[in-house]
Amino acid sequence: MDKFVIHGGRPLRGAVRVHGSKNAALPMMAASLLLGRGERLVLRQVPDLADVRTMSGLLGELGVVVQRKGSRLTLTVVDDRPIRAPYEIVKTMRASICVLGPLLARRGEAQVSFPGGCAIGSRPVDLHLKGLARLGARPRVRNGYIVARSKRLRGSTVYLGGTFGSTVTGTDNLLMAAVLAKGHTVIEHAAQEPEVQELAHLLNLMGARIEGIGNHRLHVQGVERLHGTEKTVIPDRIEAGTFMAAAAITGGDVTIENVRAEDLTVVLETLQQMGVRLEGGSYTVRIDARGLRRLAPVDVTSLPYPGFPTDLQAQFMAILTLARGISVVTERIYPDRFTHAAEFQRMGAVIRKQESTAIIQGVPRLSGAPVMASDLRAGAGLVVAGLAARGRTEVLRVYHIDRGYDRLEERLNSLGANIRRAKDAAAPAAPAVATA
Ligand code: EPZ
Repeated sequence: MDKFVIHGGRPLRGAVRVHGSKNAALPMMAASLLLGRGERLVLRQVPDLADVRTMSGLLGELGVVVQRKGSRLTLTVVDDRPIRAPYEIVKTMRASICVLGPLLARRGEAQVSFPGGCAIGSRPVDLHLKGLARLGARPRVRNGYIVARSKRLRGSTVYLGGTFGSTVTGTDNLLMAAVLAKGHTVIEHAAQEPEVQELAHLLNLMGARIEGIGNHRLHVQGVERLHGTEKTVIPDRIEAGTFMAAAAITGGDVTIENVRAEDLTVVLETLQQMGVRLEGGSYTVRIDARGLRRLAPVDVTSLPYPGFPTDLQAQFMAILTLARGISVVTERIYPDRFTHAAEFQRMGAVIRKQESTAIIQGVPRLSGAPVMASDLRAGAGLVVAGLAARGRTEVLRVYHIDRGYDRLEERLNSLGANIRRAKDAAAPAAPAVATA
């Protein structure tokens, strides 16, 4: 198993280019299952990540050949009969659930392993199942699998709100089911995340009729069939936000290229409140924190888009551990997503956790320590903290980070960081735990 060895304290300088969005690419890849035999979908700017390779493997099991040339993926349906997403793959990546809707809609049946527990808390799929039931699929759980069948789904009105807001992959699944259903579907309380909007735009390019993209209410007029198309995946707003956090915490000056500032309004505003200077161009954002000895404390609450993304909560908590006062971080999507807080404490951070809130008393410095990544974004948060800590930080279980960041260490080093990948000889083989 790999670890990162970081020698902190170097301000980041220069420019870095953001890759395509993981969470946009994964459901877009699953949309290939809506095509017939011989048809193909081409996706450009697809990041080369462990999760993308896992989705390619799953699609391979389901009769789709995935070929990569640079950042371009061609997905060709060679067999439109397989319907089973096996436990061995689903247990390693929760985003596998995105094959449920398209399998059912195009192939009339789906057997998808029920996603299990997860390091960031309980992640039910009840809203996915409720939605598909409204379209007439009657999903059941048998022997650990979600089993659903329907010769032709029927349009209906589906409410997708839950205790913690809407559901991103649940909206993806419903959209992919409704595009081929007979009649009209209304999805109420749909997720508005840019990645969901991108899937909807892709489906429309494939011949679907979706209206209201970006709103809480989506209208879908079912069509008989879809066709192949080409689309570029949007830049990854979470990767961009992670580089921003790394620049801010080190007192750096970094220009982030290939970023859609409109997807990151609340994140940029948060950085400004901390005292960071920002400059925007077309598809670039400059983060200038030079000379800022300690940043201002802020309160951050994760919320569904356009609120502050839960996937950047750990990286921003890292910055706040060094702020010049008290910050409050509240997690409204995954109330238990705080495993990084205990690791920050190992580096000298002062954090008190109460239910879904963490109260952070900023300290003048963190000191390097061995720390453990428990999921992808917690791992990214630990790297951000390590970049600013005095001395040597070892981040263990880097395989979590590799699921969502392509060669993170090389790109940080190109900005002047000192971070190296090494083998963690003491560690056993990577256990399979799904978080994405
Ligand atoms: C997506 O997960 C992302 N994954 C996650 O990114 C992200 O953290 C999350 O959305 C929230 O933004 C992908 O896009 C592949 P949800 P998803 O369904 O769709 C509750 C990363 O690090 N809920 O929107 O699984 C749920 O428990 C990953 O890249 C139900 O109650 O998240 C949570 O509290 C991690 N019932 C809230 O809704 C359901 O049926 C939002 O979850 C479904 C969800």
